[in-house]
Amino acid sequence: MRGEIEVPGDKSIAHRWLILAVTGRGPSTLSNLPLALDVRSSAGCLAQLSPSARPSLEGWLSRTARLGETHSFTWDDSSTGDAGDKVLVEGEGRKALVGGVGLLDCGNSGTTMRLLAGVLASAAFESVLDGDDSLRTRPMERIAEPLRRMGAEVRTTDGHAPLHIEGAPLKGIDFRLTVPSAQVKSAILLAGVAADGVTTVRDPAATRDHTERALEALGAPVRAEGGAVSVSAFQHEGFTASVPGDVSSAAFLVGSAAVTGGDLTIRRVGLNETRTHFLRVLERMGVGTERRVTGRELGEPVGDLQVRSVGTLVGTTVEPWELPLVIDEVPVLAAVAVHAAGESRFRGGAELRVKESDRLGGLATALRALGGQSVVEGDDLVIAGGGLAGGQTEATGDHRMAMALAVAALAAGGECEIDGMESAEVSFPGFVEALGALGARIGG
Ligand code: S3P
Repeated sequence: MRGEIEVPGDKSIAHRWLILAVTGRGPSTLSNLPLALDVRSSAGCLAQLSPSARPSLEGWLSRTARLGETHSFTWDDSSTGDAGDKVLVEGEGRKALVGGVGLLDCGNSGTTMRLLAGVLASAAFESVLDGDDSLRTRPMERIAEPLRRMGAEVRTTDGHAPLHIEGAPLKGIDFRLTVPSAQVKSAILLAGVAADGVTTVRDPAATRDHTERALEALGAPVRAEGGAVSVSAFQHEGFTASVPGDVSSAAFLVGSAAVTGGDLTIRRVGLNETRTHFLRVLERMGVGTERRVTGRELGEPVGDLQVRSVGTLVGTTVEPWELPLVIDEVPVLAAVAVHAAGESRFRGGAELRVKESDRLGGLATALRALGGQSVVEGDDLVIAGGGLAGGQTEATGDHRMAMALAVAALAAGGECEIDGMESAEVSFPGFVEALGALGARIGG
C-alpha cells in the first residue's frame, strides 16, 4: 500500500456542522461534506425540519446521489475536496424549525438520532425519530433520561427507537454520564444552548469533543474543565467551514499500510487528538506515524498524516480508559493485531456490543472465520496474533466490520472472501476503490 490520498470528509464533524448550519441564524457554507449515507440521513432529516434550508439540502442530496456512484473525492494532493460537495445552508435560527413533517428517518445513524434528539428537545412541536433495524436495537434511554430532566417529554420504545419527543422550554442540568459517550454529551450540549441556566455534562472518560469545539468557535459560552463541559443559552450565527478528512476512515488505510508494510500519506485529514489515539496504539505495535497540523476549521486541527515505517508488528493491550478514544478504531486495530506477534487485548469493550452491530462478538467470530485466533473473555476482545490463513466471512451489515475485515484480509496467507462490503458506503464511499488505488488486489 503506497501513495498519497485524501479521504472523504469527517462524518462525526459533518453531522454537527450540518445541525449547526441549519440551526444558525444566517447563511452558512459547508464544503467537503462527505457522501456517507449517515451524513445523508442527517441532511435529509434537517431538510424536513427547516423550510429555509430545505431547497439547498435537498439539492445537495439529489446532486450527490449521482456523484455517489462515481465517488467524488480525488486522489491527488492539489484537490481541496470542494468540488461538487459544497452546500449553502440558509439557517433562520433554532426557533424556525418546523414540526408536522412526519417521521424523521435516521437510517443507520446513531449520531443523527441522538444529536437531533438534543436539538428537538427544545422545539415547540412533537417529533418522531426512527431508523433501520440496527439503529432500532441501540440504547436510547441514555439520551432520553437527561433530556427529560431538562424538561422535554421523551418516549422510547422499550428503551429504543422509535423515539417520540415533545419539545418544551428547557432548564439547565448537571449530568454525569454513566457510559462515556460523545453522542450523549453532544445531545445534552445541543439542548443546553437552548436551555435556561447552565448545563454541565460530566463524562467519565475523554470522548471526541467536536460539538464543544464548534460551539466555542461560534462564540458560545462553553467551558471545558477536568472532564466536565458546561454551556449556557446561546444562538449562533451562520459560518463557513470545510469539513476535514475523516481520520476514522483514514485509520483503515493506515491499518492497511501497517499490515502490508506500506508507506502512505493522507492529506487534509482531521487531527483532533480525541480522534487520533489509535495512532498511539499503532505506535506501540511497531508502526511509525507522523502528523503535521497545517490549519484549522471551526476549531478543528487539520493536516497531513503519514505512515512512515512499519517494523515488526507486536501485540498490545488497550486499557479501558483508552477504549472511548479508539471506540470506532477497535475493528481496524483488531485487524492489525491479528497479524502481530503475540497476544493483543482490548479491555473493557462492553460498548462495542451496542454499535452498528455487536463488534465484540462479531470481530472474534469473523477473524476466526478468516483463519485467525480470537475470543471474547468477559468484556475483553483477545486476539492471538500470528496471521490469518484465509477463509470466508460476512460484514454483518456494519461498515466498520466490512472495512476492518478487508484490511485484515490484505495480509492473509490465503484468499479471503468478505460478503457485504457495500456497507462501507455508510461512512467511506469509495473505500474499496481507495484500497485499489493504493495497490491492493481486490476481486469480487
Ligand atoms: C460518535 C460517537 C461515538 C462513535 C460514533 C460517532 C459521534 O459513539 O462510536 O461512531 O459522532 O459523536 P458513542 O457516543 O455512542 O460512543
